[in-house]
Amino acid sequence: MNTQIIETKAAFKAITDQLRHDGKSIGFVPTMGALHDGHCSLVRRAVKENDVCVVSVFCNPTQFNNAEDFEKYPRTIERDAALLEKEGVAFVFNPSPEEMYTADEMNHRFEFDFGGLDKVMEGKYRPGHFNGVVQVVSKLFDLAQPTRAYFGEKDFQQLAIIRRMAKLMNYDIEIIGCPIVREASGLALSSRNERLSAEEKRTAINISHILFESRQLTAMQNVSEVQHWVIEQINLVPGLTVEYYQIVDQDTLQPTDKWDNAIGCVTVYCGPVRLIDNVKYN
Ligand code: PAJ
Repeated sequence: MNTQIIETKAAFKAITDQLRHDGKSIGFVPTMGALHDGHCSLVRRAVKENDVCVVSVFCNPTQFNNAEDFEKYPRTIERDAALLEKEGVAFVFNPSPEEMYTADEMNHRFEFDFGGLDKVMEGKYRPGHFNGVVQVVSKLFDLAQPTRAYFGEKDFQQLAIIRRMAKLMNYDIEIIGCPIVREASGLALSSRNERLSAEEKRTAINISHILFESRQLTAMQNVSEVQHWVIEQINLVPGLTVEYYQIVDQDTLQPTDKWDNAIGCVTVYCGPVRLIDNVKYN
């Protein structure tokens, strides 16, 4: 199947309107490109569960709070399109920032009521980040009006926020969370891994190993002890610096002192690259 690349909102809307008119179910996977097997796991599921799979590849400027991070984000649209064609994706939406946003939208903060979900972890350390995510995802949902939309649990807080957004804004879209895909080494796949040197990548593997090991401690230690242990162990690895490690309830994302329904979410700098990962404790 030939994958069609669409660059304008009008064409994207017209195509998805037509698909819906023809009674086709649409599976939608929003991405920022530099696709890897983690993204592909979402795409494969969307292809399997829907008549048509549509993917967006858009590096969204409004969700970056660091201009350098935005500029350095890998952009590999040709490789991405070839990969998506192999997976059986019918349409790829790849707009420019100017096509996606008016100057006003680009320069004025989009505000959304996150009900506290944004006060912890990524929300705390990347102010405005989730406003940008919700701004772009709501725009994409309005254009595509998919039947189902697929998000990875690697960005666990993002998934929770999208679920809240879909509920608050009454989207008739099934939000589907998909498990983290890892390298055989345990390292969670990420587009940012492309920025790691071979040595940094070896260092980064310690993150998931320490998270997995922490699961063995829950019978003997409480949440606060394990939280401290993880931070200490990761910081002991030369080249790694923890930004935060927080054990929270999987539904509310608020700090918890119970192991039941707990998830530990971590952000670690490996050299200049900011990596995230998480582990469930049940
Ligand atoms: P991006 O980082 O490109 O990720 C796109 C989707 O792929 C997200 O739902 C993310 O959770 C999922 N994903 C990434 N790595 C994964 C892995 N190792 N295993 C499973 N899923 C993985 O997340 C974004 O883009 C943006 O914020 C976006 C939602 C597109 C809005 O701009």
